[in-house]
Amino acid sequence: MAAVPVRVRGIGAYVPKRVLTNHDLEQMVDTTDEWIVTRTGIKERHMAADGEAASDLAYAAACQVLERTGVRPEEIDFIVVATVTGDMQFPSVACLVQNRLGAKAAAAVDVAAGCTGFLYAFHLARGLIASGVQKRALVVGAECLSRMLDWSDRATCVLLGDGAGAVILEAAEDGVEGVLSSHLGSDGGLWDLLYFPGGGSRNPTTHETVDQGLHFFKMNGQATFKQACGVMERACQQALEEAGVTLDQIDLVVPHQANLRILNQLAERMGIPEGKMAVTIDRYGNTSAASVPMALNDYYQEGHLKSGDLVLIVSFGAGLTWGAAVFRWS
Ligand code: ACO
Repeated sequence: MAAVPVRVRGIGAYVPKRVLTNHDLEQMVDTTDEWIVTRTGIKERHMAADGEAASDLAYAAACQVLERTGVRPEEIDFIVVATVTGDMQFPSVACLVQNRLGAKAAAAVDVAAGCTGFLYAFHLARGLIASGVQKRALVVGAECLSRMLDWSDRATCVLLGDGAGAVILEAAEDGVEGVLSSHLGSDGGLWDLLYFPGGGSRNPTTHETVDQGLHFFKMNGQATFKQACGVMERACQQALEEAGVTLDQIDLVVPHQANLRILNQLAERMGIPEGKMAVTIDRYGNTSAASVPMALNDYYQEGHLKSGDLVLIVSFGAGLTWGAAVFRWS
């Protein structure tokens, strides 16, 4: 069976209204705006409102991409949400979004791959459409990381933010291939660089797990930093090779926004010219699985993307996982 050509159709995002600046954080933990900006590039991040959960952010981002593309909810047959901060252990955020959209024809599932989640969701949807199993997918990255943080731990609480982004992937009716490659990888031997120990079947929630601080995001920042550039560079090279294009043919690189120093190192190692790489970490911090589609959305809104442009997206995250994809903006 010949593969069905797949295209990316539209982008949408949702940014919660509440802003937490570095100066706000100076009042909460022993930190400074200068330390955070110098070490990470982050100036502020957005926080979900009280009562707002991952599915609310995902739903808002989905509504925007549907409105922009004119796709009706009943025309979607697959919803995949990348998140590690779902509303509940189960059901999935995807099912909650499916219900609110009234996407009656859609199967719905979440994927958990930390900050690489959006790349995993994208790859999964691409494969299902290319194989002819599904026709049109809503692919979302949505995170409410503010609920998972120890707000007394300055090493982690300054880094992360909330938000969501979404694209539609669909069978390309004109027969022109829009998604040229998607490549994923993992190394579970590095699982303990980034993890959330409490509440699962290993450490089910008890008073003790709460007292031991197991219900907070844990990270070995330096070890993660050391992995970041190498895995993203290799993922990019693989995705470019599979797409049959070179970096100088790419119009926009949209990397996961974890740390400005990581982005600068990646740009230097790969030779990505200034202006060709999306940088939004200053305004949102690290929004994990939402970071790539949120950055793509900002660059789209700011007029950096035109029809036919080649986009390279790349990420790394908990697992350890990584992934990259090349697609044509339509
Ligand atoms: N304010 C002030 N000082 C701080 C802060 C803070 N917010 N946080 C840590 N420090 C201190 C440390 O205590 C340490 O002090 P010491 O030297 O007296 O012991 C000093 O600053 C240096 O700490 P390092 O951890 O060595 O700082 P580093 O330069 O490595 O930066 C950072 C830390 C920003 C976390 C960096 O390692 C990083 O970005 N790592 C990658 C993180 C990442 O990419 N995560 C991605 C995935 S997240 C996900 O999957 C959801």
